[in-house]
Amino acid sequence: MTDGTVSFGDHRYKRMSGSVGPDVVDIRKLYADTGMFTYDPGFTSTASCQSALTYIDGDEGVLLHRGYTIGELAEQSNFMEVSYLLLNGELPSAAELNRFTTTITRHTMVNEQLAQFFRGFRRDAHPMAIMCGVVGALSAFYHDSTDIHDPAQRVIASHRLIAKMPTIAAMAYKYSVGQPFLYPDNSLSYTGNFLRMTFGVPAEPYVVDPIIERAMDRIFILHADHEQNASTSTVRLAGSSGANPFACIAAGIACLWGPAHGGANEAALNMLREIGHPERIPEFIARAKDKNDPFRLMGFGHRVYKNYDPRATVMQKTVREVFAAMKVSDPVFDVAIQLEELALKDDYFAEKKLFPNVDFYSGVILSAIGFPTSMFTALFALARTVGWVAQWNEMITDPDQKIGRPRQLYTGPTARPYVALDQR
Ligand code: SDX
Repeated sequence: MTDGTVSFGDHRYKRMSGSVGPDVVDIRKLYADTGMFTYDPGFTSTASCQSALTYIDGDEGVLLHRGYTIGELAEQSNFMEVSYLLLNGELPSAAELNRFTTTITRHTMVNEQLAQFFRGFRRDAHPMAIMCGVVGALSAFYHDSTDIHDPAQRVIASHRLIAKMPTIAAMAYKYSVGQPFLYPDNSLSYTGNFLRMTFGVPAEPYVVDPIIERAMDRIFILHADHEQNASTSTVRLAGSSGANPFACIAAGIACLWGPAHGGANEAALNMLREIGHPERIPEFIARAKDKNDPFRLMGFGHRVYKNYDPRATVMQKTVREVFAAMKVSDPVFDVAIQLEELALKDDYFAEKKLFPNVDFYSGVILSAIGFPTSMFTALFALARTVGWVAQWNEMITDPDQKIGRPRQLYTGPTARPYVALDQR
């Protein structure tokens, strides 16, 4: 994986190649050799780690999880199988999948005390505020799986996080609508269980709609992992200090909440609703292009994809399938379709290579299923937990990894003497 070197002044640095994608220059000795740092705010040209989990070719619009395309996984796999793949590196046998699914199923309940945490929140608390608090609080309950140096504890913590996220997300929703929490039902699939905990009520049986179950499971697959995005990098950085996995995932949830990242799905649907009618689309496209207007097309653009986000393709297809099956329509979807068409014909978006991303269509289908927009990012966090956990495990076992501690270009005052108050 190593061939050649790259020169920097009088020094030469190892050039490393991965299995596919850009090479990297190993600059770990650059400061010691030159007394200089690299400068890369936002890490647009920086590889923070080696990883075998997910590969993105932004120019070609390719997304692979352990070598399998997102299109094939979304079409032919399911979220439990993709979770196993991300965690273990290979597609499971039937027996392995059954064992993994049963293990996850058996961890879906949360400590009964945890329900008390919800009572402390206002009913109108944003579900992501609740998720940040409650997931971080898991550290206070599962002491038998917080030792990151014990492989067995890492596995249990990983399973607990993947299993309990749907329960916590459903509890956040139930609390916001004043309905009682439902316990998990082990006879249901991972996704079916989540739908029942969210939309079921104790007063009557809840029958999982297989069309919705399949669509939701596919949406989870589309959000499972995505290389070293902001929230994954947050989880890795938190984990690099030795923090326990529950605290690290809570940090990832906090980062995902931002509208430039996972919060974009909520912002995108709010934007589409604000546009309201196709005749208002040119007005919003003009605003998005106006340098003096902070408005951006939410659900558009991406740091890595300079082509169509392959997840958006699957998401749009899923919207059409679900709408046809449910015999529903939503004028917001028509606005989204026409907004995409007009934007992609516009030189501004073409020159800057701005295409719809995973968040552009997801809100349309989540809204049709019955989720309030405030739950959209919580659903993203639910699905991304397996990616965060897989990346965290990979980091912990990476011999190259050490505590993350970037440096800076200092632009503040140089040393100066203190001035007493009566002298100022
Ligand atoms: C996710 O990293 C990941 O993988 C994230 C994610 C994942 O799965 O983890 O894929 C999930 O977060 C998807 C992205 C969701 N966010 C949004 O949809 C919010 C809207 N999009 C952006 O704010 C923006 O596109 C980012 C944040 C996604 C990417 O920003 P970059 O890479 O830092 O690019 P940039 O802000 O430097 O923009 C480049 C140019 C700028 O113009 P110039 O200053 O060069 O003239 O493109 C413009 C921007 O103004 N631009 C947009 C735009 N996005 C970028 N202009 C209008 N509308 C937009 N949406």
